[in-house]
Amino acid sequence: MNRVSFLVLAIGFVMLFSACKTDSKDDKNTASISVDSLLQIRYQKLLAYPVDSMGFPRSYALAENTIKKVPSKDWTSGFFPGNLWHLYQLTGNTKFKEKAAEWTTHMEREKYNNGTHDMGFKVFCSFGEGLKVTENQYYKDIILTSAKTLSTRYNSIVGSLRSWDFNKDIWEFPVIVDNMMNLELLFEATRISGDSTYHNIAVSHANTTLKNHFRGDNSSYHVVVYDTINGTTKDKVTHQGYDANSSWARGQAWGIYGFTMCYRYTKNVKYLEQAKASAAFYLNHPNLRDDGIPYWDFNDPDIPNAVRDVSAATIVSSAFYELNDYDRNPKYLTYADKVLTTLQTEEYILDAEIDVPFILDHSTGNWPKKDEMDGPIVYGDYYFLEALLRKRSN
Ligand code: GLY
Repeated sequence: MNRVSFLVLAIGFVMLFSACKTDSKDDKNTASISVDSLLQIRYQKLLAYPVDSMGFPRSYALAENTIKKVPSKDWTSGFFPGNLWHLYQLTGNTKFKEKAAEWTTHMEREKYNNGTHDMGFKVFCSFGEGLKVTENQYYKDIILTSAKTLSTRYNSIVGSLRSWDFNKDIWEFPVIVDNMMNLELLFEATRISGDSTYHNIAVSHANTTLKNHFRGDNSSYHVVVYDTINGTTKDKVTHQGYDANSSWARGQAWGIYGFTMCYRYTKNVKYLEQAKASAAFYLNHPNLRDDGIPYWDFNDPDIPNAVRDVSAATIVSSAFYELNDYDRNPKYLTYADKVLTTLQTEEYILDAEIDVPFILDHSTGNWPKKDEMDGPIVYGDYYFLEALLRKRSN
């Protein structure tokens, strides 16, 4: 073979090789699925997950390939049934409704559990969501019994529901900002029964939180500790944030959502003003990431290398679709729409091959304990689906 024929042969080979490479890339592109299809695949994973009365899926550790499952007494147990109720509403597929009802039944034992303030998360996100789509007296009865049980944690001197029972030697009567979320159960119990006791406890708790949980800049403390003899505050600390004076992103989210929801039931403008002021703190924070997904704590000195918390973004987005009904302001919808757009991408939706009952990656549960870091967590999905529903009806 002379030099020219060798060169022609070599060029031909290179061209053939690069054509093959292009073909295989095209094949991959053709085979790659749309984000909508990917979401449908993820939804089916939730439906396919076998019902287990003792093991509600809470989170997934990618590195170890393990699903953390919890009993109904865990604060997160109600979210998985809630996700299925949401998916029924989003898709109209009755299979989701049947599965949701099955999972929800296994939450019933919680109605007498007075060792927790998380009754609202557990019972309202399961039975309460079910009640939105089915007229069911059994669900109403459970909501009422649960509200009665939760009310036993109310202290009239403090004017609040007690949050945790642990750390009693350090915290006489701790109340966390997250506890605002449990008030929806109480408001609904009054709506169902006509008994104003529950509504009044919720209002008292909201007023006490309004008075003591917010800083001058409208960010919130995580834990406020009260004196049960005279009702004064003894300490303001954190349990899940970076430090006592930092702004833990999910804590800010619970406050925004909680006061928006309280305004829905009371029309008390003080609650609306707090929701708006906390929203402004969140939206104007220089450390809020451009894609809308906050770092887990606005004051982590590791920013921009700190982990994100998708759950905070989905809670705030869902709250903003409601807040916009009470205070028309394009900044709420702009943020919430941005978050939903950001999340509906391959960066945030779990791969189709990952066989776990979760949808979104990159939530952070408990940074101080380095637990559930930067991965899929059930409540990140819950508020994502709720936000999609609220956007649809907005
Ligand atoms: N305590 C609820 C949360 O971790 O946000």
